[in-house]
Amino acid sequence: MLKGKTIILGITGGIAAYKGAALCSKLVQAGANVHVIMTESAVKFITPLTLQTLSRNPVYIDTFDEIDPAVVSHIHLADHADLIVIAPATANTLAKLAGGHADDMLSTTLLAATCPVLIAPAMNVHMYEHPAVVHNLELLSSRGAMFVEPGTGQLACGYVAKGRLAEPEDIVAAIESWFSRGAKLKGKRVLVTAGGTMERLDPVRFLTNDSSGKMGFAIAEAALLMGADVTIVVGRTTAALPAGVKVIRVESAQQMLEAVTNRYDEMDIVIKAAAVADYRAVNVSEQKQKKNGEKIVLELERTTDILETLGQRKRHQFLVGFAAETEQIEHYAMDKLSRKRCDLIVANDVSKDGAGFNGDTNIVQVFGPEGLVEAMPLLSKREVAVRLLELVAGRLISPGGIAE
Ligand code: CTP
Repeated sequence: MLKGKTIILGITGGIAAYKGAALCSKLVQAGANVHVIMTESAVKFITPLTLQTLSRNPVYIDTFDEIDPAVVSHIHLADHADLIVIAPATANTLAKLAGGHADDMLSTTLLAATCPVLIAPAMNVHMYEHPAVVHNLELLSSRGAMFVEPGTGQLACGYVAKGRLAEPEDIVAAIESWFSRGAKLKGKRVLVTAGGTMERLDPVRFLTNDSSGKMGFAIAEAALLMGADVTIVVGRTTAALPAGVKVIRVESAQQMLEAVTNRYDEMDIVIKAAAVADYRAVNVSEQKQKKNGEKIVLELERTTDILETLGQRKRHQFLVGFAAETEQIEHYAMDKLSRKRCDLIVANDVSKDGAGFNGDTNIVQVFGPEGLVEAMPLLSKREVAVRLLELVAGRLISPGGIAE
């Protein structure tokens, strides 16, 4: 899939540098011509010989160590690259890129490059959330850099949190999707809802659900890589927001309804991955509720079904809904598809291990008007997102057009 593509792989100095070797190997296996640039710190974690052997090309570390006298290496590399991938990207490298520094081979090559740059950050969670790092990520994103977000899990420093380098296969999937489907959603305006809604009972209490926002964020990130202009409307979430997309924060189902319907006319594709409350409290107390008796009854009323509202008002938009089910998946999914006038429904059996809320994986079946379109096995949410958007892109017939 990457045959004939020249990729510069920048490896910087974090413990995840060892995963750079697996990434290099997978890129070469996929047919890419890989040139590795390592920082001095990366060399402390993994040897250049490893990367030279895997890439079958010389490894660059020192700007002044000119391997081929016929060319100026950093300019030559920059001119011939189709894509630069930095994995792992440390906080220091992000700061250097954001500041336009050119004090080593990698940063100098990046300044000289005009090709797209894909960055896979990896660091301790507090470093990742530091305002300086957040600012640098935003700055790089505003200049067009693309990102593969770090995953959540055991960090080398002992924390179990966000900051792990994305798995090499996920980075390869992002690279392949950029090369092969990169243009498929170019110019499309995509709105994704993500996370759970919060329905207030009083100033300190609310009803919500287990949604983490990860599925919606993976879709937003994949849509961005495929060239779309992406907006996310986000409720309560435990995952970090993807970089490079417009973010609208909401709390309640009613706020989400307003945020989505206000932007609906200008959207080409709307994907409703959020877990929206079906009921809200009839009376929301302005003061904190005091205990009163052994039992209380909470009176709830229906919220507006956002997806159904969008289905009723649908004109040119391609509409994708989600269905979390525990039984009769196909029956309920097809019922939702026709009742809410969706073009696709992504159904998952949330009773299965590895599917649904909170995890990094999902098992979904996608239904269209004709019935089952694709049954995906256990996959990372990123891979589900890429495959789903590929289905959507395949069903768009013209700018703003919709499925057959
Ligand atoms: N949804 C919505 N507005 C609501 C409730 C749900 O837009 N008030 C959307 C969700 O974002 C999701 C889809 O509807 O895309 C399906 O949600 P789900 O809760 O599985 O289905 P329901 O329609 O609520 O049906 P049921 O309660 O029968 O499962």
